[in-house]
Amino acid sequence: MFTKLVKLDRRDFLELIFTITITEFIYPHKLLGFIKPNLLKKGDYLQGIYGISLDNYPELLPIWGSIRIKIENTLMFYPQVIIVHVPKEEYGVEFIAVCERCPHEGYPVKDLDPDLHLFECSGHGTLFDVTGRYVWGPASRDLERLNLEYDGDKTIYLEVALYPLNMLNEEREFAYLRQNFPNPCSDKTKIVFGTSKPANVDIFLVDFKGNVVQKIFSGLCTEKINEIILDVSNFTSGSYILKMNVDGKHFFTKKLIVEH
Ligand code: FES
Repeated sequence: MFTKLVKLDRRDFLELIFTITITEFIYPHKLLGFIKPNLLKKGDYLQGIYGISLDNYPELLPIWGSIRIKIENTLMFYPQVIIVHVPKEEYGVEFIAVCERCPHEGYPVKDLDPDLHLFECSGHGTLFDVTGRYVWGPASRDLERLNLEYDGDKTIYLEVALYPLNMLNEEREFAYLRQNFPNPCSDKTKIVFGTSKPANVDIFLVDFKGNVVQKIFSGLCTEKINEIILDVSNFTSGSYILKMNVDGKHFFTKKLIVEH
């Protein structure tokens, strides 16, 4: 089933492309939800403020609870962020957000060690504490920490510099492919995508050997929000890759997991 939705103005479209994807912290990183930003101009940058409700993301309620966040289309930093609920008496704050890219050679850090509360780099083993501070190893610098405010009740506000304002002119073209929802999926899953201007779009589902399992969409994309419901009930359980090309160029890849 393919649905074309309403036309949008540019600001609404920027909210779409900078929408964050929230997943569980640990493998298989189950998809938890999406949050659109409030967009502001701050200095020379477009700033996104993301209100993360603890009611919607109870994974953050327990001390040492955590979520993983992906921000797409930003030019400003490595777009994977980890938020951890830490004991206030020890750290002076309730929540900490760090970028998961190691400053050594850019590998992501692994999951937080549940006993030592350290991040270990998946590349060459540098250790960082939960605040992102360098502890040991070849990186010798801290993980980048992001601004975050907690209202003391139910909401965390994550502040992210998203894009240089001087590069956000009307001519700039954007596209997005949202993570399918739900993921993992067993019968049906929703795929949402769009382009800021009409463009030729191809979306394929391929298996891990690179074989095309299904063509999801192929043609001129003229709408900014397009939804496709994909029936995966006959697919073999396992991991697949969603690939999106725009005007013949590879743009996005998403991992789709089928579990029966
Ligand atoms: S990339 Fe992290 S230690 Fe080398």
